[in-house]
Amino acid sequence: MPNVAIETHEISKSYKLGLAYGYGTLRDSLVGGLKRTGKRMVGRGGRKQHDSLWALRGVTFEIESGETVGLIGHNGAGKSTILKVLSRIIEPTEGWAEVTGRVGSLLEVGTGFHPELTGRENIFLNGAILGMRRAEIRARFDEIVEFADMGRFLDTPVKRYSSGMSVRLAFAVAAHLEPEILLVDEVLAVGDAAFQRKSLAKMSEVASAGSTVIFVSHNLATIQALCQRGIMLERGQVVADGPVGESVNHYLRVLERSASDDLLERIDRDGRGQEVTRISRVALYDDESGLADVVVGGRPARIVVEFTEQLPMMECELTILNSLGHPITTLDSSLSSPADRRQPELSNQIECMLGGLPLVPGRYRIDVVLRARQEVQDGLQAAAYFDVEPGLVDGRPMPETGGDGDVVLPHLWRLPPF
Ligand SMILES: Nc1ncnc2c1ncn2[C@@H]1O[C@H](COP(=O)(O)OP(=O)(O)OP(=O)(O)O)[C@@H](O)[C@H]1O
Ligand SMILES: [Mg+2]
Repeated sequence: MPNVAIETHEISKSYKLGLAYGYGTLRDSLVGGLKRTGKRMVGRGGRKQHDSLWALRGVTFEIESGETVGLIGHNGAGKSTILKVLSRIIEPTEGWAEVTGRVGSLLEVGTGFHPELTGRENIFLNGAILGMRRAEIRARFDEIVEFADMGRFLDTPVKRYSSGMSVRLAFAVAAHLEPEILLVDEVLAVGDAAFQRKSLAKMSEVASAGSTVIFVSHNLATIQALCQRGIMLERGQVVADGPVGESVNHYLRVLERSASDDLLERIDRDGRGQEVTRISRVALYDDESGLADVVVGGRPARIVVEFTEQLPMMECELTILNSLGHPITTLDSSLSSPADRRQPELSNQIECMLGGLPLVPGRYRIDVVLRARQEVQDGLQAAAYFDVEPGLVDGRPMPETGGDGDVVLPHLWRLPPF
């Protein structure tokens, strides 16, 4: 008989709007926009509807001990909120959760650490909170410090750490203090690529040792690599729960539908609350045919991002993903080349020119993040989709479908004579 590690029953969580809250201001004001279009979020229990937002609504699931579960869904769907409820950082407004076992969690940067205490002190503090004895913590201490790669900052107060360093330490603590249940939110994205790989490997190790893992990520490839089961949240409700492949497919279909919506109407966006500009349109053009959203592979193409307001020093990051939601490449204007240009005649628009689009025929998705003043101004997953038709790369026909990869590298052969 498998044991139940986590059980939630009809969990709802409402937040009061208008309270200072770092990341939500834009989203909150957009929820106001939703109300105008009539898709009002319904409050319960006689509460005033206009000043609260239901981040979770009637969430019920059961997770057996040893299961690995990926939580997926749009921005603002409630993924982080459910993890905070499970790790007892916040109380649900309605319903209950029962969590059986020692929980290691890595949620937002900074949670779980005392800023005035040093890295060393925080490791012991966290261990104590998890109910470990000092000797047990000491036995894992070196491994944690090595994993987090923070030797000489060990005796520095955590408030002086960079966000990358805090995440490294928090992950190392959560994953090494023998958690029976490991809850990991997206924050891994803050670390560098090498640390991300190391963390994913550590998570699979924790999972194969029999711990229960809940992992939140927008990267569907890592979710599928790590998790057996997928739960999809949408506007605070569970809309899919099953084998990870099925839930991911469901999510991909929903994403594709939302790409055809007016981008300005979408509420599932990233931003930090201070943003003044928003992505209004994204399209990819075949530079020879001029057609939008259909390109012949191998031909020059251009991705155009339009936004509502121009700010000084804007930067743009585009991620191209294949039809399975796996990222293929990221194009980031802040990694600049001497050949890039800032052009006065480009207003409210950024263009990314692709020499010859080296993609095999298929359907692709573009995710966009717009930055200015070093801050994320706006971000949209699935801002646009495009289709690639069979073409030539340097005169060479490309494989028909992406069975063995998505890109074709320009290349030449040297062969013995016929
Ligand atoms: N402290 C808070 N006060 C007010 N609203 C909040 C607070 N925390 C979250 N929310 C709101 O609750 C909803 C769910 O947020 P949550 O952070 O759980 O989403 P998420 O699925 O983790 O999104 P993301 O993918 O962007 O991380 C959002 O509309 C968000 O703006
Ligand atoms: Mg989140």
